[in-house]
This record gives sequence, structure tokens and C-alpha cells, in this order.
Amino acid sequence: MKVLVVGGGGREHALCWAIAGSPLVTKLYCAPGNAGIAQDAECVAIAAEDVDGIIRFVQDNDIEFVVIGPEAPLVAGLSDKLLDIGIKSFGPSAAAAVMEGSKGFMKDFCARHEIPTAAYGRFSDIAAAKTFIAKQGAPIVVKADGLAAGKGVIIAETIDQANAAVDDMLAGGAFGEAGAEIVIEEFLGGEEASFFALCDGETALPLASAQDHKRVGDGDTGPNTGGMGAYSPAPIVTEEMVETIMETIINPTMDGMKAEGKPYKGVLYAGLMIEDGQPKLLEYNVRFGDPECQVLMMRLMSDLLTALIASADGVLKDFDLRWYYETALTVVMAANGYPGSYEKGSVIKGLEKAGEDRDITVFHAGTAFSENEKICATGGRVLAVTALGDTVAEAQTSAYKAIDKIDWPGGFCRRDIGWRAVERE
Ligand code: AMP
Ligand code: GLY
Repeated sequence: MKVLVVGGGGREHALCWAIAGSPLVTKLYCAPGNAGIAQDAECVAIAAEDVDGIIRFVQDNDIEFVVIGPEAPLVAGLSDKLLDIGIKSFGPSAAAAVMEGSKGFMKDFCARHEIPTAAYGRFSDIAAAKTFIAKQGAPIVVKADGLAAGKGVIIAETIDQANAAVDDMLAGGAFGEAGAEIVIEEFLGGEEASFFALCDGETALPLASAQDHKRVGDGDTGPNTGGMGAYSPAPIVTEEMVETIMETIINPTMDGMKAEGKPYKGVLYAGLMIEDGQPKLLEYNVRFGDPECQVLMMRLMSDLLTALIASADGVLKDFDLRWYYETALTVVMAANGYPGSYEKGSVIKGLEKAGEDRDITVFHAGTAFSENEKICATGGRVLAVTALGDTVAEAQTSAYKAIDKIDWPGGFCRRDIGWRAVERE
């Protein structure tokens, strides 16, 4: 089978790495890919958002299956357009991707189907939004409705901060069209975890849990990022909790989407807040997390591609996946300055040495080959150094041992990924 993976970050490197080992693959391409992905797939210079370019490539190269990594092409309808030309893909239709594409849709959907989530209101009028905030009090959360590259959520500690966020989004155009409508919701306390399920429109198969570190600095301080590290499984998501999540959140979502004529296929990534044993849904994403995908792929024993095709074909019902029991932990190395402005082009050395141990995989998130064939940094998040271990502490030690072999003065990482789980152990 000729397979194309769409995307070029750490998530897509992990997907390509897993798919490259499938006995079903005769040729693997990635658009656009990166310098690390080039070890597992042939990279083609087409942007992930270039839906027409991808369709043309698929037709010209007889691609038989497409795995769509990021949310933007999903929300833009890539999987529908592929279906129009008779090509199967992994990922939801545009109609189902609205689960991530519109936070307002997701909240109304939860209300219709009694899925536990924070109390909320939807607004496009400034005065109405501020009246709601005054009534609810602070802390309170203000969210842009549409896709905002992970930046559209403001946790307001005071009413003034919440009002300012409303002004920024509704009057100031802070997130453009994505912020022309907003959701304002109750602040939830508790512990966050991510949960992933593979869906085929009818059935959801639980995959695994993970926890990530969104803040840039040690001790979970500083500005938010796309994620500076993650580990899987999440200790808080016990087997009993998996059952609760499936029963109260994932299965009602599958049934509700089917009943509303938007059957959900692909991976459903639930961002959860867990308090007193009760999970509530913070948000849905319609794709794998980055860097959560990296830790999931390290733990997956079964053939990934077979599972992704089963999701597209609607035959997950009798499907079973096997996992390594070890913990996987990934540490992101980012370019100095991230998540603010950062430099591009600095050379990274020592990658081969870092990845030589059996329990380590160095996934690339933002790398390219320089003119003299050296690997250099091209993104904010650049590498995801991923380790397997019997405990979180062991995986953490291995990951940092590998990181210390990497010679890259232009980059940095957090030194405490997994700290909460290590403390528990
Ligand atoms: P989201 O993009 O909706 O996941 O929001 C980004 C982050 O904001 C989440 O990972 C949480 O840490 C936080 N967050 C979002 N909604 C809430 C809420 N209602 N209560 C508390 N924290 C929240
Ligand atoms: N790591 C968070 C995300 O992928 O959305």
C-alpha cells in the first residue's frame, strides 16, 4: 500500500515511524515532513494546509491511504475531498471536525447529550458577555470559538482580566475570525489529563491516557506553549477511570455525533479535568496531541496502520490493540526564545549518539537539512526526545541522559518533565 502522512511536526514523525514498520506499507510519503521524518518516509514539499496540492499529489502518485496529522486540513475538509476522488483517509470529515473547529458547537453538543463539562455561555456581543462575567464572577475562562493554534484560551483571575479578554477578542480582533464569537465558561479545579480513543463512526476503542506540561518553565511556570513534554499512561487515569470516561464522555459523543448525522471517525482526543473521581470535558481535539502522540506510539505494540485503516473502514468493533506496559516519557527541546520569537537555522549535533540506546527515540518536530547536509532547527519546538522505562522516574532519567548527548546551544528544554508522577511514585 502506498501511504501519505500529512504534516511535518513531532506528531507526524511519530506516526511515520510507527507506520514505516507496518507490513502493509510498500511506500511511505510525508507532506511536508522534516529532517527526522526523512529517515522513515520520502518527504514532499507540500504544506499540510495545501489541500489542493495534496489532492494532486495523491492522484499523481496513486496513493491508497492518507493519514492526516494536524487539525487545519481536517477542518478544511481534506478527508471529504479525498473521499470525493475515492481515496480513504484517517481523520474526521469537516462536519465532524467541528468538534475542535468550534468550541461553541462542542459546548452545545455536550449540553444536548448530557456530557459533563464546565457551565458556559456563547457570545458575540460585548455587553452581553460582560453581564455574564459580572454575574458569574472570577476566576473565569474566556475562549475564542475557532482554531487559534492553542492560544485562544484566557484563564482570567479577575473580572477586569476577563472583560479585557472579551474586548481583545470581540473588538480587538485578537484571533481574527476565530475570535469573532467566544465561549465564556466556569473555571474548573482538579487535575488535567488527556485521553485518546480511536473511532470509526459507530464504535470507540480506548487507546491510552497521557499528561502533558503546557508551561514553558520548570515547575509549570511561564507562558503557555504547545506542550514541553508528556508521559503516558497518566497515573490518575486508572482502569476504573477509563470506564467512567468511556461511559460518560466518549460513548455518548460517538452516539450523539451519529444521531446528528456527523458520524465521528479518526482519533478523538479529550482534554479532561478530573476532580473527586469525576472527569469533565475541557475540550475535544480531532487529532493526536503533539507531543502526546510521541509517547503513545512508543507504547503501541500492535500495527498502527491496520488500526487506522480499521477506523476509516468502520470495523473497529472487533479490534484489539496491544500496548507495552512501560511508561513512555518525552521531553521537548525548543529553540531559545520559544514560545516568543526564536531564531531559526542553528545546527544540532549529537543526534545519532542520543538515539543509540534501544529505549530512546529522538523524534524531530522542526528540523531541516542545511545546505551542507547538517541538521538545523527550523521551528519553535524542534525535537521530542522520548524514552521507555519501567517507571516514570526511569523513563525520565533515560530521556535526560539522551538529551545530555545532544549538542545544541541554540535550544533548551525543561528539566522536570513528569515531576508530578515521579513524586507520586
Ligand atoms: P483548551 O484549549 O480548551 O484545552 O484550554 C487550554 C488550557 O486551559 C487547558 O489545558 C486547561 O489547562 C485550561 N482550561 C481550559 N478550560 C478550562 C476551565 N474551564 N477551567 C480550568 N482550566 C481550563
Ligand atoms: N499538546 C497539546 C495538543 O496537542 O493540543
